[in-house]
Amino acid sequence: MDDQTNGTTLDSATKKRLFVEHLFTWFAANDRELPWKGERNPYFIWLSEIILQQTRVEQGMPYYRRFMDRYPRVEDLAAAPEDEVMKMWEGLGYYSRARNLHATAKRIATEFGGKFPDTYDGIRDLKGVGDYTAAAIASFAYDLPHAVVDGNVYRVLARVFGIATPIDATAGKREFTQLANSIMPNDAAAMFNQAMMDFGATRCTPAAPKCTPCPMRTFCVARQTERVGELPVKSKKLKKRDRYFHYLVIRQGAQTWVHRRGPGDVWQNLYEFPLIEAERSLERTELTKHKSFQQFFPQTVEIVGQTAPVRQLLSHQRIFARFFEIQLPDEANFNSADFQRVSWAELERLAFPKIITTYLRDRSIPLELF
Ligand code: ADE
Repeated sequence: MDDQTNGTTLDSATKKRLFVEHLFTWFAANDRELPWKGERNPYFIWLSEIILQQTRVEQGMPYYRRFMDRYPRVEDLAAAPEDEVMKMWEGLGYYSRARNLHATAKRIATEFGGKFPDTYDGIRDLKGVGDYTAAAIASFAYDLPHAVVDGNVYRVLARVFGIATPIDATAGKREFTQLANSIMPNDAAAMFNQAMMDFGATRCTPAAPKCTPCPMRTFCVARQTERVGELPVKSKKLKKRDRYFHYLVIRQGAQTWVHRRGPGDVWQNLYEFPLIEAERSLERTELTKHKSFQQFFPQTVEIVGQTAPVRQLLSHQRIFARFFEIQLPDEANFNSADFQRVSWAELERLAFPKIITTYLRDRSIPLELF
């Protein structure tokens, strides 16, 4: 298909060539300093990509550095205790990624003698590695010609090439992957992929993209047809489930009670305070009447403080949590089958969901005292 640009007709091959030329010129002038840039060690690249699946570049950098420092070789990560890896991951969320990371390190250490796979299929076969991450590792570590396709790439291509195929369906994924691979120069896969990521992340952004000046503006279809805000297209809108958590922060002497979350729900294997989940956010008096509260505490107890609800967004859920501080006399009973009694100092070593770490760390959550 031809595109009309400033009175000139561009055939598809010319447009792709121009796209790469402009992208690379822009990249040379706007290269971001990132610790994993130019890295050729597949193990470090893999670490950075798994972290960046989960968080933004600025937030991911300190995690990347800490993992590299503590586990300089894949064997070091493989040999680390699971609790320690979870603690290192704390704050990033989506803890199945940390578990996959650990499991994959073990597999590489034992099955492959510590040698990272060096083919696209070998990399793609690793647990926790999808098409995007496999293409990133294959291109950055081995210069293999596989284009990365993620939200940034969908957005840039949908806009510049004027493609309205929904990106959250199989047909869209196939179409954008083919297009990206057909544009990418096979002898510059790493540079192309890094430039696409950076261009999407800093220039062709979801909101308020920097179209003036943009090197692509003379042939960007979305710009010319005033559809920048409409592209890319999504077919489904995700409806998030709301959940209401009430955490019981028990003060019993110099100790408190925690347990480790089990499988089949969010935050698997992370620690938490005793939890009461309800259909809506409860006040102190309502909470004390809750069946679970009465099971936890056979006798009357005093709630000495409560926080306002704080929110944590997960991919499919919104968690609203309130913390209730409870003073429990030394001799009083807490029905604690699954719980362990720990000192406040010991909490430092355990991995908690972000919402709890925030509560523990800065207490910036307003505490309404009675
Ligand atoms: N997001 C995912 N991988 C990235 C990378 N290598 N550089 C910048 N942002 C990224």
